[in-house]
Amino acid sequence: MKLKGRTALVTGAGAGLGREIALTFAREGANVAINDVRREPASAVAAEIEALGVKSMAVVADVSDSVDVRAMFEEVVAAWGTLDVLVNNAGIALMSDAVKANFLQAVGELVANGRMETSVGAARMMADSQWRRTLSVHLDGTFYCTREALKVMEPRGSGKIINMASIAGLTGILGAPDYSAAKAGIIGLTKSVAREAIARGVYVNAIAPGYVDTALLDFLEPAMKQMIIAQTPIGRLGTPQEVAAVALYLASDDSSYTVGQVISPNGGYVM
Ligand SMILES: NC(=O)c1ccc[n+]([C@@H]2O[C@H](COP(=O)([O-])OP(=O)(O)OC[C@H]3O[C@@H](n4cnc5c(N)ncnc54)[C@H](O)[C@@H]3O)[C@@H](O)[C@H]2O)c1
Repeated sequence: MKLKGRTALVTGAGAGLGREIALTFAREGANVAINDVRREPASAVAAEIEALGVKSMAVVADVSDSVDVRAMFEEVVAAWGTLDVLVNNAGIALMSDAVKANFLQAVGELVANGRMETSVGAARMMADSQWRRTLSVHLDGTFYCTREALKVMEPRGSGKIINMASIAGLTGILGAPDYSAAKAGIIGLTKSVAREAIARGVYVNAIAPGYVDTALLDFLEPAMKQMIIAQTPIGRLGTPQEVAAVALYLASDDSSYTVGQVISPNGGYVM
């Protein structure tokens, strides 16, 4: 077991990648706190984790709210005394109906003529509220949780912080300027904090998955998914397990020389 007796907190763990990462850590012997902004899924995953014979707790908090985040860390540390691993995973993906309609038209043009003539208009039509919500959940949330984790990890001289970035932050993806900016920001944050925290034995790294089959992609129309798959050399979406395996590597002692890196399981979408 690679994480026996360690304590972990996974944000956004009520579904998708976060849930799978939490289950993977628990199977390797970790006690895992399950954060989500939604209570029911967080409690359900916490029950799944406990059934594996380790400790769990559901901690409801909106990671974009620094007061919520502080209270969440206080609760986890009060219960378990310390924190070994933080996974900053909570995230959202927003696309307006107008952008989706343009996107579908552009995909049709691509198939028919080999090039897109319609701009999807995601930047041009972006509402302030969407821009701010995406940046605050992903980038503010990652920063707030990282700040609290460092207060626990730096004094004791060890810890692992794993930030969920995306290929969107490496290459920019069509129709998602807010999401791409947030994920690129997470990559910059990861590298800067990695440089300071390793002085106290705290490892900070990021994962930049390609497109993975979770509810986050539910807003994509079938034609949009087909285009994504056609652009992915391996010819399919990723699975949550394929991302959780990278998270386990970064959480465990196997990654003892891996500092400030961005590991991208993406089926070849970005090379
Ligand atoms: N699925 C993909 O293709 C993909 C690819 C690259 C990166 N990612 C990233 O992986 C992470 C997880 O995505 P997923 O695919 O599992 O999505 P998901 O929608 O399946 O799960 C996300 C979870 O985060 C929770 N959440 C949302 N906002 C929150 C907040 N403010 N505070 C706390 N919890 C919140 C949701 O309730 C949900 O349970 C996200 O950061 C996402 O951007 C996903």
